[in-house]
Amino acid sequence: MTRLSIKAIINKKNIRKLTCLTAYTSSIAKIIDKHVDIILIGDSLGTAIYGMKNTQEVDLSMMMVHGKAVVSSTKNAFTMIDMPYQTYDNKKDALINANKLIKFTKCQSVKLETDGKNIDIIKHLIKNKIKVISHIGITPQKYKNFKKIRSVGNNPKDMGKILKLAIDLEKAGSSMLLLECMKESLAREISNKLKIPTIGIGASLTCDGQILVINDILNTQSLDLKPKFVKSYVKLDDVIEKAVKKYCLEVVNKKFPKKHNTYR
Ligand code: KIV
Repeated sequence: MTRLSIKAIINKKNIRKLTCLTAYTSSIAKIIDKHVDIILIGDSLGTAIYGMKNTQEVDLSMMMVHGKAVVSSTKNAFTMIDMPYQTYDNKKDALINANKLIKFTKCQSVKLETDGKNIDIIKHLIKNKIKVISHIGITPQKYKNFKKIRSVGNNPKDMGKILKLAIDLEKAGSSMLLLECMKESLAREISNKLKIPTIGIGASLTCDGQILVINDILNTQSLDLKPKFVKSYVKLDDVIEKAVKKYCLEVVNKKFPKKHNTYR
């Protein structure tokens, strides 16, 4: 099997829903690569695995290290990587940093958060042959406190603005859109109007695909926050705790290591 290309991903629109998860480590990436269409090395790694309160502290070097670990351990899924906070504030920095990320990690595309003000920067990257996924709706890099996050598209003015932004981003050459925390009717309209796929998180079933943070589906988040769009499919935290308790008990009671764990 060869790695999915952006063309193959786009061709799946209106055929079947796209599956997408985040991954930050080689061990998890290897497992999910057999199943998902797309892997995002998200800057959510700040809150998911580094205990940060938001994504603003995540820097390029963190994304590079985790991106390389994920891409080098996978061979099937299409890969996208987040450009972290303040690394794409102007055309020059954005191009230098996107190239650094892609060259070092071998990721197929970068994801940028946008409210439309940086559309020229997105166009500049695309002109320079970089595949860009545009992230709209709630853009977490704007927030110091995630508890303040609400949905978007709750009034006609807001809806019109976001729909226009989505159309402009497709015209600009975005390969896909990520829609976060968006009212269903708006997500439906965007998904129906655009030729490129929409991947939703908290943006309803009407999107062309879904994404969740891997730590959320496994219930191993370090941030104590569970928005309603999150679903945990397993309580891995309980499984881990049970294993750790058993190990500690065996060590204390001299039940581990056994003869077969020992070099004699
Ligand atoms: O960083 C991230 O994980 C994201 C989510 C919206 C999926 O951008």
